[in-house]
Amino acid sequence: MSDSNNFFKKFKQMPVDSITKTVIVATTLCFVCSMVVSFAAVNLKSIQEVNKAIDKQKNILQVAGVYYEGIDVQKTFSSFQPAVVDLNTGKFTDKFDPLSFDDKKAAQDPLLSTPLKDDPASIGRRTNFATIYLLKNTDGSLDKVILPIHGYGLWSTLYGFIALEKNCNDIFGLQFYQHAETPGLGAEVDNPKWKAQWNGKKLTNANGDLMIQVAKTKKDENHHIDALAGATLTSNGVDNLVKFWMGETGFKKFLNNLKNGAA
Ligand SMILES: Cc1cc2nc3c(=O)[nH]c(=O)nc-3n(C[C@H](O)[C@H](O)[C@H](O)COP(=O)(O)O)c2cc1C
Repeated sequence: MSDSNNFFKKFKQMPVDSITKTVIVATTLCFVCSMVVSFAAVNLKSIQEVNKAIDKQKNILQVAGVYYEGIDVQKTFSSFQPAVVDLNTGKFTDKFDPLSFDDKKAAQDPLLSTPLKDDPASIGRRTNFATIYLLKNTDGSLDKVILPIHGYGLWSTLYGFIALEKNCNDIFGLQFYQHAETPGLGAEVDNPKWKAQWNGKKLTNANGDLMIQVAKTKKDENHHIDALAGATLTSNGVDNLVKFWMGETGFKKFLNNLKNGAA
């Protein structure tokens, strides 16, 4: 009789409460389960990546106001023109392919990012290059520009987009596609009623000073978004990150260039 048959015969004869049998069963079970989990993780990764990309595209359509239930997200997204912007010069760059450039990875890369001394958005480093999306009219003129934004709330980094009208100052919308704030409190940043407040607000005043604010008390209608009730810390995070990305260290140079046809 072969060794393996011998082993199985001995194994079967062991009492069910024997320590050796328990250890063999537990080890085999762990091994099989880890194989199943590893196999699933490896095989599902590419599907997850595709779904993540589609979800990001859906968010871009939503913030630009062109999304509706049942829409072909990838087809509609193809009408947006992605481009990589050099945040130091405020100009477009063709150093990277906008379809594959990864802003999040770049923000961790010392060669592609800058450490922040003044860091109101609590992000540590700012990528030097960012992927933005242009929505054009049929005659080729600019309709909207969609810019990526991120920063720390209370529990998590919120990642999202802000959509600006062609004058690069009027806000069309703001929306986050990833965060881990508390449902019912900080996660109310996803509440359509709260998001609707952003539409029509202006980033700056007539002098070009950055005025937009998320606050409990209103300074003036044009630049004010109500802070979320019971979630002042997330609201402060959103206030800080919007000011950071729309300011000097963020997209300000690029927005000025885009407005003046110098990007
Ligand atoms: C379990 C728990 C979860 C919370 N989650 C959030 C949150 O996601 N965002 C936030 O700003 N505040 C959150 N808070 C409340 C904050 O601790 C803090 O009280 C609040 O931001 C103050 O806002 P208020 O001045 O509007 O009351 C949470 C509190 C608790 C106990």
